[in-house]
Amino acid sequence: MALKPVIFERFPSLQGKIPWVQLGEFPTPVPRLERLGKEIGLAQLYCKRDDLSHPEYGGNKIRKLEFLLADALRQNRKVVLTLGAWGSNHALATTVLSNKLGLKPACVMVPQCGQEYARNNLLANFALGCELAYAGNNLAAAYQIISVYLRHWLSGARPYFIWAGGSNALGVLGYVNAGLELAQQVKAGLLPEPDHVFCAVGSCGTLAGLVLGMKMAGLKTKVIGVRVYDKIGANSYMASRLARSALKLLRENDPSVPDLKLPASEFTVLHDYAGPAYAAPTDSGKEAVRLARDLEGLKLDTTYTGKGLSAIIDLARKGKLENRTVVFLNSFNSRPLEKLVPQKPAPSELPEKFRQCFDQVAKEGK
Ligand SMILES: Cc1ncc(COP(=O)(O)O)c(C=O)c1O
Repeated sequence: MALKPVIFERFPSLQGKIPWVQLGEFPTPVPRLERLGKEIGLAQLYCKRDDLSHPEYGGNKIRKLEFLLADALRQNRKVVLTLGAWGSNHALATTVLSNKLGLKPACVMVPQCGQEYARNNLLANFALGCELAYAGNNLAAAYQIISVYLRHWLSGARPYFIWAGGSNALGVLGYVNAGLELAQQVKAGLLPEPDHVFCAVGSCGTLAGLVLGMKMAGLKTKVIGVRVYDKIGANSYMASRLARSALKLLRENDPSVPDLKLPASEFTVLHDYAGPAYAAPTDSGKEAVRLARDLEGLKLDTTYTGKGLSAIIDLARKGKLENRTVVFLNSFNSRPLEKLVPQKPAPSELPEKFRQCFDQVAKEGK
């Protein structure tokens, strides 16, 4: 297990300046998906198993939170406040890791299309002690963020605020590091240099960091983001802006970090696989989840990774990935929630607003 991020090996003077705390288990493995590859006509298909990034709760948020929560500790904050949909993986990861560090988690949650995994995330988040505040729309979310923030601040514990998805300059470093880690795995002969890495795009931090990290490593790999969230928040411009802010942060702390150009044109985002709304399952996403499970034993979700993999399947079947080496980033947690929360609370124990959205989902039979 790596004891420090590759980025600190590459630029030693960053260590100590950039906040970081070890929480996850890295590097994550990169197995070849032979059976799935054969099924879709893509001989060189690999998976970057970030679903295994933590022994209790994996997924892509762990890498970001190693930097963000270290910053919260450095600033001596006691409460961590974040924002997400009520079934958010990011919110649950923030709770799990905040608890490990003795920080108190709080989250403002907005509505989403409900699914089984989302309901389980919400119950787990509640069981693990996250302070939940419901907001029915964006305006209400802004109000709730301010009021939860002020309430804690006035009682002597100014919260550390983490934006939805953990995507800011510091959080993005988690995926810069993932790009450098993947380059090391290529160098070690664990896989050939990929032509493409595919990842799901929500708040853009994963895509932004991967593009920057692969570029810093000198790989020619093209990262392809598959949008799963609204276009207004998930697009090339947003990813480019985030990558540039992460690079700025690195260069402020170590001017020897190369000054790379990161125009929006280098951040590819596919818009055809998102379906009608965030978290609304698509047929192709469901097929991807099923194929990954049946052929490779992988546990994907229909909100992010199923849609991400559905792009690879579609393009491979259309012959557009012929002779290419492709890496699929599995960014969803695959650790069982039952281990994390052995006694799942009943929905009736949730705060009222959350009970209502739970009931609604149950009535819709989703
Ligand atoms: C499972 C999973 N995959 C991918 C993403 C997208 O990552 P990002 O928000 O960095 O674009 C998320 C974000 O919440 C996620 O939960």
